[in-house]
Amino acid sequence: MASSAQLSASSQAEPTPLGDVLEVSPAGRILAEITLPGDKSISHRAVLFAALARGESKITNFLPGEDTMASLHAMQAMGVRVRQPDATTLLVEGVGGKLQPTAEPIDCGNSGTLMRLLAGVLAGQDFTARLVGDSSLQSRPMGRIAEPLARMGARIECEGEGQRPPLRIQGSSLKGITYEMPVASAQLKSAILLAGLQAKGTTTVVQPAACRDHTERLLAHFHSPCRVDGNAISVQGGQKLHGEDLVVPGDFSSAAFWIVATAARPGSELKVSNVGLNPTRTALLSVLMRMGGHVRELLGEGRSEPVGTLIVRGRKLHGTRIAGAEIPNLIDELPIVAVAAALAHGETVIADAQELRVKETDRIAAMVACLRAFNVDARETDDGMVIMGGRPIKAAKVKSYGDHRIAMACAVLGLFARGTTRIVNPQCIHTSYPGFVDDLHDLVPSGSRTVRKLSKAVKSLIRRGPGNGA
Ligand code: S3P
Repeated sequence: MASSAQLSASSQAEPTPLGDVLEVSPAGRILAEITLPGDKSISHRAVLFAALARGESKITNFLPGEDTMASLHAMQAMGVRVRQPDATTLLVEGVGGKLQPTAEPIDCGNSGTLMRLLAGVLAGQDFTARLVGDSSLQSRPMGRIAEPLARMGARIECEGEGQRPPLRIQGSSLKGITYEMPVASAQLKSAILLAGLQAKGTTTVVQPAACRDHTERLLAHFHSPCRVDGNAISVQGGQKLHGEDLVVPGDFSSAAFWIVATAARPGSELKVSNVGLNPTRTALLSVLMRMGGHVRELLGEGRSEPVGTLIVRGRKLHGTRIAGAEIPNLIDELPIVAVAAALAHGETVIADAQELRVKETDRIAAMVACLRAFNVDARETDDGMVIMGGRPIKAAKVKSYGDHRIAMACAVLGLFARGTTRIVNPQCIHTSYPGFVDDLHDLVPSGSRTVRKLSKAVKSLIRRGPGNGA
């Protein structure tokens, strides 16, 4: 059973609505080219920064997922005019830093990125706002942003027990601080930098390890650059953002599901075009190469963010150890890395990843429970998991835990299982990758569809590949 397909996110019609259960059948090789929808982290920042800027911005390839639409709606609710001529294009009229209060609380939905970044923005406005979210978001820790923002002079109340949402933010005049971040979190870093733009003096954050740097790159793109000195990043208070057009690259974290589905099946070949290749996001590629996978990275032209093409070929994978500074650069990919580990021979250890316990769900507990349901030998540790790959994968019925990345990782594992896999409550997939199920069916059809042959260009790119190399 082999399949070849050419998929383009931008050409897809409305995504298929998801029912209560997603069924996945076993599939064979993947031979395909794919373009992914816009990057989630960059889409959030694009709409926030364009909204705060002076002047107009055109955002192209915006991700119209539930999380990023929550960002768009939040900015519209606070007085920002945005036209959306099609699902992935935004024409934003920036308000020059000054937002309007809302009568109703601002609903951040499932998005930790929106709630944390917005808290940094609202800390320096001249009104009071209340931020709420869904049950998953209401259980996520907000003390990590409230504490440094309070040091800057912000008045933030975490209304939930244990410093959890809802957040009540009374805008205040802020002062710059130097803050040593206790966790390598881009959401925390961004919240402080966004508050810092509105503060008196200089604000510096020092990250314990590099984590995604989209805020730094996009502040520069919107003409308000940070100073970066190793792991210390500074902004000057009073700097103004200016409107600028931006093309959002394809989401590497969404590509990761197909990268692993391809890398773990000998004989499969995949070309991923126009995908974000920011090195603070792509540690999955080095992990796969360590596991014996074949990946070629072809960097193209990207203005503020590295963008390019990936060629992935299937191989037999073996286990590895993932820990330390690598973790922040593949934090969102760890559920699908766990799937790669289940399909590899030997032991994979994931350590130093305690942050996974405070994502959309406890991703350590959820992933280990799901893997075991698929007959995988997996166990939790405090800060990660240990997976012994190589056992036959059996189809399973698993919960999504309301977490898009758990649902998609299990769908990929289902492609390698005997029998039909069922994922209960898969609707959360729409938070980051609304077209996932359509791409799943197109990339790995059940064998009945006639599909295009791999294009000549892909074949020659694959042939030219000397082996692993990035
Ligand atoms: C994100 C940062 C990461 C990541 C999340 C998106 C961002 O969270 O897990 O999906 O856009 O800044 P942390 O900053 O909490 O590690």
